[in-house]
Amino acid sequence: MIPPAGAEGPPPAPLGEIAVDALEVRGLRKTYRPEDAEGAPVRALRGVDLTLAPGEFVAVMGPSGCGKSTLLNMVAGLDTPDEGEIAVSGESLSGMNEDDLARMRRKHVGIVFQFFNLLEGMSALENVTLPAVVAGTPRKQAETRARDLLDLLGLSDKAGKAPGVLSGGQRQRLAIARALANQPTLLLADEPTGALDSAGGAEVMELFRRLHADGQAILLVTHDETVAEAADRIARMRDGRVDDGAEPVAVAAGDATFGPLAGDGDPRP
Ligand SMILES: Nc1ncnc2c1ncn2[C@@H]1O[C@H](COP(=O)(O)OP(=O)(O)O)[C@@H](O)[C@H]1O
Ligand SMILES: [Mg+2]
Repeated sequence: MIPPAGAEGPPPAPLGEIAVDALEVRGLRKTYRPEDAEGAPVRALRGVDLTLAPGEFVAVMGPSGCGKSTLLNMVAGLDTPDEGEIAVSGESLSGMNEDDLARMRRKHVGIVFQFFNLLEGMSALENVTLPAVVAGTPRKQAETRARDLLDLLGLSDKAGKAPGVLSGGQRQRLAIARALANQPTLLLADEPTGALDSAGGAEVMELFRRLHADGQAILLVTHDETVAEAADRIARMRDGRVDDGAEPVAVAAGDATFGPLAGDGDPRP
């Protein structure tokens, strides 16, 4: 809900006068509680702070289970935190219902997953057209933008093809085109090269570099140091916490051996 004029609290930042951060995350916490009383709760996020300036490219790195996907899903409004604040492009997600979150996603966020999540029954062009149509763009206009995106991403000759006949690198480029359909403030990517061979990975990273050079803010999760090198900075994550990457972090030897539950005792059976 937008508070009525004259409501308590500070006035909203004057849009267009100062640059609004692409993302602001403060004190984010999330604990997953198992269905059965026997299982131990998993403290997936334990107070995460992270800021992305407009157009900034940040890579999140950390061992498996440290909370990277949980963080990304919350920023995308696909999951809700127990505590903390998220603002995407100055818009706070706190108190948003499912419809508000879906609207926020369509307006501000594009998401790329490890396994593409493309619709196989549709052509490449339709995959990229659909998100804009869902967001209310007239079909003709959505299709024009989709063609421009396919062109930009070097896939114009694949417009009529089903995603299944494309190479891994091409499929991920198509997924990126789809993520850009609504001109998002923030492009999120969870291990986007994780399912690709090195050539496909290089193809996709070259694309992220180009998008960033054109001013796209990107938050990318990866295991791969060479992938992370494309970013402006790296936020190291461990045990549900993230270092903003603003200052260099001393990484102790053996960090990679920390499991997801380190520091919580060992509640595994
Ligand atoms: N929906 C969920 N229900 C229960 N536990 C979850 C859920 N999502 C993630 N977790 C747990 O939270 C921790 C962090 O997971 P995740 O964010 O997927 O880590 P990463 O992406 O860094 O590998 C893990 O221990 C994982 O098992
Ligand atoms: Mg993950």
